[in-house]
Amino acid sequence: MSFEIKMPWIIKYRPKKVDDIVNQEEAKSQILTWLHSWLEGRRPEKKALLLYGPPGVGKTSLVEAIVREYDLELLELNASDYRRKEDIRKRVAIASQKRPLFKKMTLILMDEVDGLSPRGDIGGIDELIKIIPNTINPIILTANDPWKDQLRPLREIVSMVEFKNLTLNQVISVLQNICNKEKLECEREALKYIAEKSMGDLRGAINDLESVAEGYGKVTYNIVSLVIKGRDKSIDLWRTLNGVFYAKEAWQAKRAVTNSEEDYETLIAWFNDNVPLKYGDYEDLFRALDSLSRASLFLRRAKSGNWDMLSYVFDLIGPGITFSRKNGELLKNRFSYPERIKVMAQLKGLRESRDRIATLLAKRLHTSQRFVKSDLMQYIIVMLRYGNIEKAAMLSRAYGFNEDDLKYLTGNRFKDIEKEIEILKEGRSGEEKEISKMKSGEEKEKKQVSLDTFGVKSENKEISKKKYRKSKSK
Ligand SMILES: Nc1ncnc2c1ncn2[C@@H]1O[C@H](COP(=O)(O)OP(=O)(O)OP(=O)(O)O)[C@@H](O)[C@H]1O
Ligand SMILES: [Mg+2]
Repeated sequence: MSFEIKMPWIIKYRPKKVDDIVNQEEAKSQILTWLHSWLEGRRPEKKALLLYGPPGVGKTSLVEAIVREYDLELLELNASDYRRKEDIRKRVAIASQKRPLFKKMTLILMDEVDGLSPRGDIGGIDELIKIIPNTINPIILTANDPWKDQLRPLREIVSMVEFKNLTLNQVISVLQNICNKEKLECEREALKYIAEKSMGDLRGAINDLESVAEGYGKVTYNIVSLVIKGRDKSIDLWRTLNGVFYAKEAWQAKRAVTNSEEDYETLIAWFNDNVPLKYGDYEDLFRALDSLSRASLFLRRAKSGNWDMLSYVFDLIGPGITFSRKNGELLKNRFSYPERIKVMAQLKGLRESRDRIATLLAKRLHTSQRFVKSDLMQYIIVMLRYGNIEKAAMLSRAYGFNEDDLKYLTGNRFKDIEKEIEILKEGRSGEEKEISKMKSGEEKEKKQVSLDTFGVKSENKEISKKKYRKSKSK
């Protein structure tokens, strides 16, 4: 299993310099002129800018690039920091009067001011209007829709800066660049398809590209046109998984879950499949799977009429999983998609393996296939992937998993476990030979052979290993 840490592409490929921002030349020059007058000690007439435009076109990125390039101090506030009037007074008013400690200037960035809800926040906007004319630090606000009624008084005291949608070719070329850097096989037609669907939202396009690359390992027109058709499930799935695994705050994780269009059973199944791929630490994994099994318990209660329980289901799937990861880093493995199984014929085997394993285990353990799939399978996976490797091999051999099943269950550990199983087999056939020798009287010294519950000789492993090596070197 790889232990590299993965960073979402919209962060990894965030523009570093002002020049890296595509297509916002007018906005850039307007902002830089305004900033230069601050830097030269002439405070501009309008102390604040309102950057507006559709999502994912570079508003926040441009401000961050400027801060880096001009070596400014950035005070970034987002909607949750100034939901109420008091927050604005406490945070923004104070910041507006504070001299920077280390840098030449502090830039205050208030993202998403149009996200302020109309009630209570009207007061907040009043408060902002008092602060802006007197600030000693430049203030930048951003909004997707600046024409909302509640923003009217604000519009009058700021300079408005428009951000445009990116063109199709610009989106394609950014995507192509990422493909090159990721050494990813990308068809031009596929990138064009993603770009068309994104309608100028580069963040959306990069996310879609990453989701396809992550699920399929390559970006071809065939895959993309199947997967990104409108609001495809696997995109929704990817957003939900990404939202939960990369959430920093509990509310973000919860929102990722409540925003999903999937039903809760499916969500639980998705996470059941993906948690083992993303969490490498044994304890983290257990906490997360435990949270999921409690989620399914609460879901059953909710469905039997106790709907208050639903909120716990969201908490257990979202923040429950996010904060289960205490010890390890997120693994770089790709997410596993149910959709992927449908699209790629060669992966059909996965589902078949799952069914076959469920049948096998249900029979052996006298339980239902459904229980094996929903609850038990994950624990077997954890045992085989992270538990003691010899025990894992014994267990696999005892249950008689075939190669495909074993690949499914053991993931990256497949080769090691396969080798261990070989060792076990060698050990046993060696033993059988010995037994026949003994029977034929060739061997004087008798030896007691016992088989344990797994049907595997319980003799010391070391001996088996030696035999294995011996037989190999022959
Ligand atoms: N003009 C651009 N040039 C280069 N990259 C961009 C551009 N616009 C967006 N991106 C990419 O998309 C990501 C999201 O952009 P950003 O956060 O700046 O969008 P935004 O305009 O602030 O959107 P929102 O209104 O949703 O806050 C960035 O991390 C970057 O990778
Ligand atoms: Mg933004």
